[in-house]
Amino acid sequence: MKYRTALIGLSWIATDPAGSASDPIVGTALPGSHASAMAAIPDIELVAGCDIVATAREGFLERWSGRWPELGVYGDYREMLARERPDLVSVVTPDHLHTEPVLAAIEFGARAIFCEKPLATSLEEADQLVAAVSASQVVMCVDYTRRWMPEFVEARRIARSGAIGRLSQIVIHTGGPRAMLYRNHTHVIDLLSYFADAEPDWVIAELEPGFEDYGTAYRGDGGGDPATEPGANYYVAFANGVRAYVTGMKDTVPELRVDLIGPGGRLSLDVEGLRLITVESEDLRTKPTVTRMERLTPSWTVAGVQAALCDLIAAMETGRPTASPPETARQAVAITQAILESQAHGNRPAQVARIAAQRPTGVPPA
Ligand SMILES: NC(=O)c1ccc[n+]([C@@H]2O[C@H](COP(=O)([O-])OP(=O)(O)OC[C@H]3O[C@@H](n4cnc5c(N)ncnc54)[C@H](O)[C@@H]3O)[C@@H](O)[C@H]2O)c1
Repeated sequence: MKYRTALIGLSWIATDPAGSASDPIVGTALPGSHASAMAAIPDIELVAGCDIVATAREGFLERWSGRWPELGVYGDYREMLARERPDLVSVVTPDHLHTEPVLAAIEFGARAIFCEKPLATSLEEADQLVAAVSASQVVMCVDYTRRWMPEFVEARRIARSGAIGRLSQIVIHTGGPRAMLYRNHTHVIDLLSYFADAEPDWVIAELEPGFEDYGTAYRGDGGGDPATEPGANYYVAFANGVRAYVTGMKDTVPELRVDLIGPGGRLSLDVEGLRLITVESEDLRTKPTVTRMERLTPSWTVAGVQAALCDLIAAMETGRPTASPPETARQAVAITQAILESQAHGNRPAQVARIAAQRPTGVPPA
């Protein structure tokens, strides 16, 4: 079965040729772009791409019309959706411009939508999307790419297996100029939910100096200019007792480092790969602590964006959920909103459930 597929937004992340994985942990490669991942999936027939910028359309054709000779380009995605009637649509527009293309893809009968992160930059839009998806037959998946990256999937599996005892603490560092809340932090915020496996309860946050009065509404430019969006440090309490600490100011090293900690050990994930550190001593009062470190190198044949697209196709064919449905992506929007609310209220705890309930899931804005 060939699924007619279209791309909305034709920047590098949508159209780059396949490159070698430079750093699978930091996440810079591994079939980098949407088009290169699609090229590796026999079920996908890329029929068209749309961008409002002519040079982006030209670059897309230059790179990919050899692989798909019938490839069309458009400057208006509604026209593209009406003419091409794709089964699968990838939405790769700037951070704050996902809602309209996703709703249009549903309107024109797409069966599956792969949407870049974040789901939306407001709870209102996130709710609108969750409601529209659940009212239709469409399957939607949000590209929190690490949900399909071997080290992250393996770290979660091991944490759930009890190898470190009950997971109690998550410590993550992110940084560098791209550590903007809705840009790179949104990956980290999603990882917190992914590993904690529970509803977020409350959040305490401090935004980057200079953004003290940022307010509670998104004021970014779609992820382009770091000056329009803050980095942050925050602490998230989950309903099952898991506590998460994130250091993520922009004036820190642009590195992703994850520690999952329990009473029996720690899983560490960074540029050195995934390690499991366990404590061997049964009785810490009477015996010296003996720690053991094991390097883990999970191998997958398909990972990253390619695995996400395969997951989406399987979900469309079988009716099972994907690893990143809009409901969990909405949770990342709710936590981000709580981060802004905590700062706006003197760095006091912000109740995520109260903030998220301001408009219950599934109810579109009036
Ligand atoms: N999952 C990941 O690891 C990852 C990595 C990079 C980017 N992203 C996400 O991909 C998305 C795009 O990021 P980017 O940095 O390439 O953004 P960008 O702003 O550089 O590019 C987006 C493209 O969309 C086009 N566009 C804007 N409005 C449009 C419209 N109405 N119709 C058609 N095209 C339109 C722009 O012209 C541009 O070519 C963002 O949501 C970003 O967060 C995800």
